Amino acid sequence: MLQGKARAYTNIALIKYWGKKDEDLIIPMNSSLSLTLDAFYSETQVTFDPQLTEDIFYLDGNLETGKSSEKTSQFLDKIRQIANIKTFAKIESQNCVPTAAGLASSASGLAALAGACNAALELNLSEKDLSRLARKGSGSACRSIFGGFAEWVKGDSDENSFAESIAADGWEDELAMIFILINDQAKDVSSRDGMRRTVLTSPFYQGWLTAVTEDLATTKTAIATKDFTLLGATAEANALKMHATTLGANPPFTYWSPDSLFAMNQVRQLRQQGYDCYFTMDAGPNVKILTKKSQVPALLQELNKVFAKEKLITAQAGPGIQIF
Ligand code: ADP
Ligand code: DP6
Repeated sequence: MLQGKARAYTNIALIKYWGKKDEDLIIPMNSSLSLTLDAFYSETQVTFDPQLTEDIFYLDGNLETGKSSEKTSQFLDKIRQIANIKTFAKIESQNCVPTAAGLASSASGLAALAGACNAALELNLSEKDLSRLARKGSGSACRSIFGGFAEWVKGDSDENSFAESIAADGWEDELAMIFILINDQAKDVSSRDGMRRTVLTSPFYQGWLTAVTEDLATTKTAIATKDFTLLGATAEANALKMHATTLGANPPFTYWSPDSLFAMNQVRQLRQQGYDCYFTMDAGPNVKILTKKSQVPALLQELNKVFAKEKLITAQAGPGIQIF
């Protein structure tokens, strides 16, 4: 039996990946940029066992079936192809992150699975090739191979679509994210289905593609010059543009709930009061606040006035993948 284990941390995109050029290989329509975080992670053990007649996937101790296990099985098929084996595998994963709630469990989950398979099958992949492999499990997972800031350079083929670390001279350690947990239940429209529907039907999608290139360049300048205001303002605007595309889709949809709007407004108000804080949102109703680590205690005090303490989780920049 071949066994491997890895831990990968979630990442939150400041410049969003939204739309695929190639659905099978997961080649994105646009490049994206994220911050890997220390608070949420997935730890996965994989065992390739010749006695198994199918793949089995345990998530937090529960046997997964349906769409969730299909995703991991399809990914294992790609790995079997690379490793030239036919053996089925048992995946045992623990998510220290709510699953499918827009908190990027697929990023940490599929990155950890890629890392565990790399160890089990002794593939000895470089970081670049591990990122390419994780990408085929879930696009955003390719960024979770790296700690701190990472850019997924879109490329146009399996070979040249992967993430790389963006050096920030330790500036990432001065930043923090506060998660406002609006709802940790699984969402109605997965990011996969949501982006597919948007690419196919939203007249706003072309506008997204034009805007995201400029937002990415601005973000890289903000990181290079350690300009927090530019970083935060660009991330917030980019998230709003991504979410705007969903309203134009057919049928239209949104990941926002009334509580998300309330939270976004709170962030705007706190900014007017002088706090350095900006929001971003992914494929779910939760709101994430990008801020400076030094402002976290005061911000939490303000946020506690309107949100229950247990709904606020603070994260800092996290490390890259760890293979055991
Ligand atoms: P999220 O916002 O949490 O990333 P998605 O709908 O994009 O939500 O992805 C959730 C899916 O990711 C799950 O249904 C499952 O297929 C996969 N996933 C989540 N956690 C893991 C894990 N630890 N190992 C393997 N796959 C996982
Ligand atoms: C809104 O990486 O979950 O979080 O590639 O289909 O698995 P698949 O999608 P996924 O999409 C993430 C979308 C996002 C933005 C981002 O993380 O860049």
